[in-house]
Amino acid sequence: MQQATKTPPAATQTNGHDGFGKTNIREEVVLDVKDLRTYFTTRWGTVKAVDGVSYFVRKGETLGVVGESGSGKSVTALSIMRLIPSPPGHIVGGEVLLNGRDILQLPEKDMTKVRGGEIAMILQDPMTALNPVFTIENQVGEAIAIHQNLKGKALWEKVVDALKKVRIPAPEQRAKDYPHQLSGGMRQRVVGAIGISSNPGVIIADEPTTSLDVTIQAAYLRLLKQIQAEEGVAIIFITHDFGIVAKMCDRVAVMYAGRIVETGDVRSIFNTPRHPYTQALIESVPKLEEKTGRLRQIEGQPPLLYNLPVGCPYAPRCTRVTDRCREEYPPTEIDAVKTHSYNCWNPVPVKK
Ligand SMILES: Nc1ncnc2c1ncn2[C@@H]1O[C@H](COP(=O)(O)OP(=O)(O)OP(=O)(O)O)[C@@H](O)[C@H]1O
Ligand SMILES: [Mg+2]
Repeated sequence: MQQATKTPPAATQTNGHDGFGKTNIREEVVLDVKDLRTYFTTRWGTVKAVDGVSYFVRKGETLGVVGESGSGKSVTALSIMRLIPSPPGHIVGGEVLLNGRDILQLPEKDMTKVRGGEIAMILQDPMTALNPVFTIENQVGEAIAIHQNLKGKALWEKVVDALKKVRIPAPEQRAKDYPHQLSGGMRQRVVGAIGISSNPGVIIADEPTTSLDVTIQAAYLRLLKQIQAEEGVAIIFITHDFGIVAKMCDRVAVMYAGRIVETGDVRSIFNTPRHPYTQALIESVPKLEEKTGRLRQIEGQPPLLYNLPVGCPYAPRCTRVTDRCREEYPPTEIDAVKTHSYNCWNPVPVKK
């Protein structure tokens, strides 16, 4: 077994994965989320949708956030944007440092400038992100006008520029179209243009629950990478699919039941996952040679978040479960090579 460094026990620790990555350098960290907790008050009890999440992303880097449906990926993102409906939701703890400033403490009027300004959230589903009754010009123009006091010809030029940036052909004509007149891929580009119109330092791209057409998805990923190469923006990419993470991201945070259970350098996690849940997610990625075969499904269901058992919430589904797993939440362990960290009492052995 690999040597691991112990961090404080679960009761006192903040589930504070640091993300690590190749260098362990925290320079150029644009967004630093620390021990974020978002709970919903429901008639069944308190839903701990996000329960001590920490992750960060550096300038020009892509962080993947991966996990099954309901694991808290979107609620984390919406909490960062301060878009949690309240009631029933409340951010009950943690910090969201954007360029060193805790945006959870900002008055709402300042937050309006930050949102869609320094940080933008792009929905991956272009049909829900665009309003069918307004033209592309209206929608891109509105996004620009919020952050830059422009009107008339100056605004029009900015709209055309934004459409050019995302490689929309004949932008002057396309600007006059309504969303339904564009192809899925073009609509996706328009959503991208809206997202980058304010030159944000961070883009959060959230995958829809229903999967996108694969060709649209591929075009979308290329677009994000192209924007990143040109603008140096940090991207948080939210998905169910570890295969996409492996292609797209520098680092990854694996979420289960409102917590990060493993995080770090993508290559290191993909090659030597230590958490059995991460391993199961990786095994559920289709391999090229197995295109016709059935994918391995993770047995069982994720737990209900309003009545979590003590111990590790993955224990009932875990193939490596021990008695201790049912009794106590595991502390954060750091791999000897310091490329990633995980919370597991009985981690997957490292293959020699
Ligand atoms: N308004 C709400 N009231 C009560 N519970 C909520 C509310 N919004 C979200 N939740 C709960 O928070 C948990 C996390 O949801 P979230 O949308 O973050 O999941 P997700 O990981 O993004 O899933 P998906 O992959 O399906 O998008 C879920 O259990 C969900 O039921
Ligand atoms: Mg979601």
